Parts: sequence; structure tokens; C-alpha cells
Amino acid sequence: MEYLFRLLILVVCLSPAFVECRVRHYRFNVVMRNTSRLCSTKSIVTVNGKFPGPTIYAREDDTVLVNVVNHVKYNVSVHWHGIRQLRTGWADGPAYITQCPIQPGQNYVYNFTITGQRGTLLWHAHILWLRATVHGALVILPKLGVPYPFPKPNHESVIVLGEWWKSDTEAVINEALKSGVAPNVSDAHTINGHTGRVSNCPSTGGFTLSVEPAKTYMLRVINAALNEELFFKIAGHKLTVVEVDATYVKPFETDTILIAPGQTTNVIVSANQGAGKYMVAASPFMDTPTVAVDNMTATATLHYSGTLSSYPTTFTSPPPQNATPVANNFINSLRSLNSNTYPATVPLKVDHSLLFTVGLGINPCPTCKAGNGSRVVANINNVTFVMPTFALLQAHYFNIKGVFTTDFPGKPPVSFNYTGTPPANLRTTNGTKLYRLAYNATVQVVLQDTGIIAPENHPVHLHGFNFFAVGRGLGNFNPRTDPNKFNLVDPVERNTIGVPSGGWVAIRFRADNPGVWFMHCHLEVHTTWGLKMAFLVDNGKGPKESVLPPPKDLPKC
Ligand code: C2O
Repeated sequence: MEYLFRLLILVVCLSPAFVECRVRHYRFNVVMRNTSRLCSTKSIVTVNGKFPGPTIYAREDDTVLVNVVNHVKYNVSVHWHGIRQLRTGWADGPAYITQCPIQPGQNYVYNFTITGQRGTLLWHAHILWLRATVHGALVILPKLGVPYPFPKPNHESVIVLGEWWKSDTEAVINEALKSGVAPNVSDAHTINGHTGRVSNCPSTGGFTLSVEPAKTYMLRVINAALNEELFFKIAGHKLTVVEVDATYVKPFETDTILIAPGQTTNVIVSANQGAGKYMVAASPFMDTPTVAVDNMTATATLHYSGTLSSYPTTFTSPPPQNATPVANNFINSLRSLNSNTYPATVPLKVDHSLLFTVGLGINPCPTCKAGNGSRVVANINNVTFVMPTFALLQAHYFNIKGVFTTDFPGKPPVSFNYTGTPPANLRTTNGTKLYRLAYNATVQVVLQDTGIIAPENHPVHLHGFNFFAVGRGLGNFNPRTDPNKFNLVDPVERNTIGVPSGGWVAIRFRADNPGVWFMHCHLEVHTTWGLKMAFLVDNGKGPKESVLPPPKDLPKC
């Protein structure tokens, strides 16, 4: 009888819409599929044949099981970007960091519980450049009966922004690595998989968001692009920002949001225009003139019910590509909600005060013709991270020597004018170095951009934690004066933060999650070039302060 009952629950719970299930089962078949954009057809890697992939729905406190089955020729792994993975690093997903990849024909069940988080996140492939097409939304609803800390919107929808290449993205990055120079930029941006109208190319007109007059809509906006920060706006409508990276913020109104790869932003739109069709636009932000970006604007339509489709669309022009003031205005408006229910638990005392330079470098490469015998690399504190061939978390857990060292430098090996004239020697060192932290240590990292090759905005993502962005500035961080201006009361809490071009950002977190946690620039080209490192957080002494044992089906290298 009991067996039958459990079977019944399991069957019902396989339907993701069923709200009472505390365990959510998903199956991700990684499969190839042909699809057309920009007047051409290509074969892409997808989950369940969808682009963007399926949305995962769960509630805070739910356990999520995703069986990822690899039917393609590439090794695969999937990351649940922003999920804290308390003690369950085995389910985090970055290939060779927390797991060996899932080989062709194999499968792996990601098993994790969502604790203390609610809002919008994303999932994406975390190997090669597969996340170009292998990504989707992860929606965490509040616990049953717990309201949002803002008026409940009438409807909700997911808006996934992406980048589209006409050619195969694996070929794009392989070609770049051979040549030593930057890969081609994408050919278009997408909104929920569609570019919108593109000149010289018949198109379906793009994604349509249908609204009813006088209703409110929460848009869960996700930047799943590989290499570009995006502005997002809707003609004739204000956006009220209520949450970023699955943490609530003090609501504020804006025309335009800025969203970096890996970031998520929930906005409320009120359909207060009565009728009509309004352009929705996603366009790139890049304030370094020498760095190439895809300058195409993706468009969609906000369509009021009852408006004829022949009705003209109200246009909006996106901010210019180099609109730093628009970007700053948005970033400076973000504050943690910091209410009694959702306090901002900013560490006030810091055990490890780290200065990490983030930027590029140039190393010799005799075979790199286009790079004239050298190649562009990227680094943190002059270390270009070398991917191991065995997963770091396993090496740590099973005490296997020779996979990594724990001597990642807490400050740059030589100090120089980071944002001034670059030094003569742009060479970096290679290594698989980790920075070791005791359980529960508090950490401040000042992420300092460098002007090497060019200053650039780097969206840096930390796995396993949320952090507070306590300060931000231009030029070189000044350890004597800048901390006086830190916001330790209600700084925004997130998992991915833009280091401003030619500037710095200071983040704080508590190392209350044992394991090995990747930190890297979420511009995929910079990750590939080596702008990455990992923290090793030791087990604590308490009963719930150790990494759990690995699951039986953990892939082997
Ligand atoms: Cu969203 Cu390590 O990535």
C-alpha cells in the first residue's frame, strides 16, 4: 500500500507544474537539432531539442533531481548558476572543477536542495562553448504561502537573452585558439531564441509578449549570452526592478536595465498604455572602443490584447553601445532589500583581504600565425589557470596529490599602475592554483581591472556563494581611503558582478560552504583564455559542515 502511494506521488511529481511536490524530477536529453536563424540553418546542441532550453521550476526548500543524458559527441556538464549547493559541490557542474564531464552515451543525476534562495537563476552547460545553446531558466518560487515582498504581479514570464553565431560555436573558439587572437563576435542577439527582424532576411518578427491592459507582469530576465553585456528596455514602459541573482532588492524604476552574462534581473512591467504594440530591445554594452562586439539589436514585441497585428509598433532606440552613464545609473541604484525577513548579512570583519587583478596578457605561441607568434591569454593575479584533467573536488575529497596546489596569490606578484600604461612584460604564469579558506572564514576580494591590452568590464562569477558588492570605483583601488566609502548596510547581494572598465569592485562573502568553488569571468572568451581560479573551503568541525559523500553515479574522467 505504502509502495503504491509512493509510486503515485512519484508519477504526479514528474509533472513539474504540480506545486505540492518537494522533490522535482527532470530529464535533460542533450541532443543535436537543426534550426534556422538569419536565413541559414545549422545544427546545434540542445536540451530536449529546445533553444533556449526548458525552464526548471522549484520552490525554496525543494530537492531537484535532473537526469542529464548525453546523446551528443561532446563531453557535457551542466551548472545550476547561482544555486548555493550547500555541501553538494558534486552537483555544481563545472567540468574538471567539481566533476568529470558526462561522456557521450553516459548520464548523471544532478541532485541538490535549494536552501535560503528564491527568485530567478539560470542553468547552462559548463564545458567548451556549449552554453551558447545549452541554457535555460531556473525559477525558484517562494515557499508555499510566502508572498513576494512586493505586490504580486498578475502574470510572470521568462525572458532569456542570448547570442547567435551563424557558424558552429566550437569551430569559432577552436579557430581563435589556433590563431592566438580573439574569436569572431556573434552575428545576432536573441530574445527567447529569436533575433527579431533583421534586414535582408525574412523573419517571423521575433518573440511576442502578449499583455492585457491594466495587468502587471513580472519578467524574469536572464542574460545567457556568451560574451556580451546587454541593455534591455521596452518602448513606452517603465521597468520596476525587484530582484537580481535571486535576491530581493529595494524596488526602483528605470527605463533600461543592464545585465551581464550569468546575471538575472526580475522587473515588473505594468501594461498601463491601454493598447498598441511596443518594441522590446536587447543591445550590447561595451565602453572600450577597441574591443569588438556584435552591434546587432535583438527585438521582440509587447503586444496588447485586442491590438491588430497590422498596427504599427512604437519604436525605442537602445542606449548607445558605450553608454557608461546608463550602465552606472542602473548599477548604482541596486540595493539589497535588507528587511527583517530578508536581511543583508554583510561580513563586517574580514579574515582574508585579497586583491585580485583581472585582465589579459600575452604569451608566446610559435604556431600562432595570426598572433605573430604570440597569443592573448587572461589571468587573475598574473596566473593563467590551467584546466586539470581530473576534477578538483574529487582530488580534494579523496586526497589525490598532484592535481592542484593551494598557493594562489592573495595579491598581485608585482604591483604596478593597474589602470595606467601597461608594463613592458605582459607574460603570465600558468598553474592550477587554489586559494584555501577555513570553514566560515570571511573574505573580501577587491577585483581590480587592468589596462593590459585594453581595460574592459569583466562580469566575475563566484560559484557556491552569494557575495555583497560593498564598493566600486574607477582607477586603482586605494586600500587606505576607498574602504571608508564602503556600503556595509544594504549593498546588493549577487553571484556575478561587473568589474568596471579601468576600475575595481570590492565583494565580501563568508566561506560557509565547504568544497571547491570556481570563480571566473563570465565572458566565455575570457574563461577560455584563463581568467579563472578556485577557492578551496575546508570542512568545518560541526555536524553539518562537511562536504557530503559523492553520489554513486558521479562521472569518471
Ligand atoms: Cu554561469 Cu561557472 O558559470
